[in-house]
Amino acid sequence: MAADHGSKQVILSGIQPTNRLTLGNYLGAIKNWVKLQSDAACYFMVVDQHAITVRQDPSELREATWFALASYIAAGIDAEKASIFIQSQVPQHAQLSWILNCYAYVGELSRMTQYKDKSAKAGSNIPVGLFTYPLLMAADILLYDSHLVPVGEDQKQHVELTRDIAERMNSLYGADTFVVPKPFIAKIAARVMDLQTPTAKMSKSAVNENGSIFLNDTPKQIENKFKRAMTDSETEIRFDIEQKPGVSNLLSIQAAITGDSIENLVARYVGKQYGHLKLDTAALVIQELEPLQKRTQELLQDKGELNRILKKSAEAAQAHAEKTVQRVYERIGFILPTGAR
Ligand code: TYM
Repeated sequence: MAADHGSKQVILSGIQPTNRLTLGNYLGAIKNWVKLQSDAACYFMVVDQHAITVRQDPSELREATWFALASYIAAGIDAEKASIFIQSQVPQHAQLSWILNCYAYVGELSRMTQYKDKSAKAGSNIPVGLFTYPLLMAADILLYDSHLVPVGEDQKQHVELTRDIAERMNSLYGADTFVVPKPFIAKIAARVMDLQTPTAKMSKSAVNENGSIFLNDTPKQIENKFKRAMTDSETEIRFDIEQKPGVSNLLSIQAAITGDSIENLVARYVGKQYGHLKLDTAALVIQELEPLQKRTQELLQDKGELNRILKKSAEAAQAHAEKTVQRVYERIGFILPTGAR
């Protein structure tokens, strides 16, 4: 049976520590996690094992992992309420991932849009991990009997694959083998777009750095990037993703930060110019990120404290994860070592 969290829902999510986290990661994921953490049992990981599906410099990976972890806490994830840990410190992720590899089909993995995009960029030597990566993500989710997975729009397909595999194994081994998770996608900022190419999502690995706001950009850099943001040749400020992707993106960013409705925002800009919209958005983002940046830097100076948080969280996560691994091992016919359970 699944681990007991009382009547609380289990929520789990993660971010890859590749390059620097973006405003997309913050508005599409972390900011929502903070809102969800009080009413649920939460697990928020830094998924370093996912990051190595593309080549990483070891010291940069370590630095990005610390940075992501510190950003979670600085943004308001509370280690007393949520488990905050690094994926590679909980070996059960890799264990369950192998099992899922044996129950997923090559056809369904081939349909993953992110695989198609990333493999197209990887040249002729495509790491196998890039192909099987959604199964590591499925393992992340299923290990903790997660009910809800708060992610941006781009990860929805992976959560749906997780559901398919969980249902497949439940029908083979019993309906309580896995909790079947649901994606949780916020209505606003589920897809923050690139500032230079507003038809593509803002990404950590954007070719043109001016398209992405990174969480450690300086106020000046943020202002400059918004000033240069791509809009369109008209002048009217309205929300229309098809015709006005750039303007709509700026409005969405404002709505995600302020909690205002798009309608209210649009009404406020009647008779104003794109320049006003750009500068206002920049000012809001700078104001939102400033305390987060300050706290992140403080936390990074105190790795002892970060390590204490990690140790406590990783132990709790491991205890839950181990229960799941043993349940699955037993159901599929592996012999558990004596003394287990
Ligand atoms: P990753 O690291 O690419 O992104 C982390 C989170 O940020 C969201 N996100 C965005 N949201 C809105 N607009 C954007 N431009 C934007 N860019 C990224 C993503 O949707 C995601 O929620 N495979 C995952 C990480 C992962 C995971 C998990 C997530 C691994 N295991 C288990 C949930 C549960 C990934 O690569 O996300």
